[in-house]
Amino acid sequence: MTKRSVVIGLGHYLPERVVPNSEFEAKLDTSDDWIRSRSGIERRHFAAEGETTSDLATKAARNALENAGLTPNDLDAIVLATSTADLTFPSAATMVQASLGMTRGFAFDVQAVCAGFVYALSTANALIVSGQAKRIMVIGAETFSRIMDWTDRSTCVLFGDGAGAVILEAQDGVGDKTDRGILSVDLNSDGQHRDILYVDGGISTQTTGFLRMQGKEVFRHAVEKLAKTATTAMEKAGIANDEVDWIVPHQANIRIIQGTAKKLGLSMDNVVVTVQDHGNTSAASIPLALSVGVERGQIKRGDVVVTEAIGGGLAWGAVVLRW
Ligand code: UT7
Repeated sequence: MTKRSVVIGLGHYLPERVVPNSEFEAKLDTSDDWIRSRSGIERRHFAAEGETTSDLATKAARNALENAGLTPNDLDAIVLATSTADLTFPSAATMVQASLGMTRGFAFDVQAVCAGFVYALSTANALIVSGQAKRIMVIGAETFSRIMDWTDRSTCVLFGDGAGAVILEAQDGVGDKTDRGILSVDLNSDGQHRDILYVDGGISTQTTGFLRMQGKEVFRHAVEKLAKTATTAMEKAGIANDEVDWIVPHQANIRIIQGTAKKLGLSMDNVVVTVQDHGNTSAASIPLALSVGVERGQIKRGDVVVTEAIGGGLAWGAVVLRW
């Protein structure tokens, strides 16, 4: 018998305010055509004034609990992936714990920027497989609108705010690829590339800072590293590419998504795409895409799903799971 982390519920939340590309045309030397053709983004959501990452995360978490038919105290833990927590401390995860009224278990944040949700899934899976927890809420939530330099057209048109959550539960499997749940994980980072995507401020410098990115450089690393980590994770799980039902990639740029699918030998018919509606929501993008993919009727029980993401660090990785 093998212990597996199986998704038993999920949900998401997007802030009310939708910002179409046309809003940027009025303020910056940019165009809807440039943003669409270079990134695939058509619109994104921005949090309201005073609306924080833990607010978005709490709403996504409530939707996931309702979807699973559980109450907050049915959870043993919350693992929240974010780079835009409300405060320096405590963690956004403990804030969500309090907002939900969860009075047991433990909660903490994971920070791996756009790869954060993959890292959080891996961490939660390790806690479940080692018997430290039976049910874990894994959340990706961000308010990247707070770290945008609104005068930098090469970054501020690309990002959005949002949150997604999945609930993992320990279930018994037979130990092969027919099991439901997380089948394999592959994580990587290389701090030598930290200067191509970073925020030029932080706690220790007593500033907040703005996101800075050498887009072309990140792009160059992205397709190659994403295809490689997804392939490695599939090999670890013993899954061939014709057995993959859905790639659920980090939603940064449609050209990266298409390039990675092509390298993996998979059709875009097997890819869940939400970048046009959400922009790049960093750690929130994969759980948002999973939730929307299930809502659309794309992802179904028993499907093989491959998630992959890359972001600041660089940090990147992939998780293979059977839905
Ligand atoms: O989630 C973390 C991971 N992040 C990513 O995966 C992002 C990776 N990178 C990308 O998605 C793309 O590189 C971008 C969408 C950021 C940019 O696309 P690109 O095809 O690499 O364009 P570029 O940076 O080479 O810029 C081409 C031109 C430049 O003008 P010149 O130098 O050729 O005259 C830019 O100044 O486009 C210009 N440009 C813009 N023009 C209109 C840059 N931003 C804009 C803009 N509107 N918003």
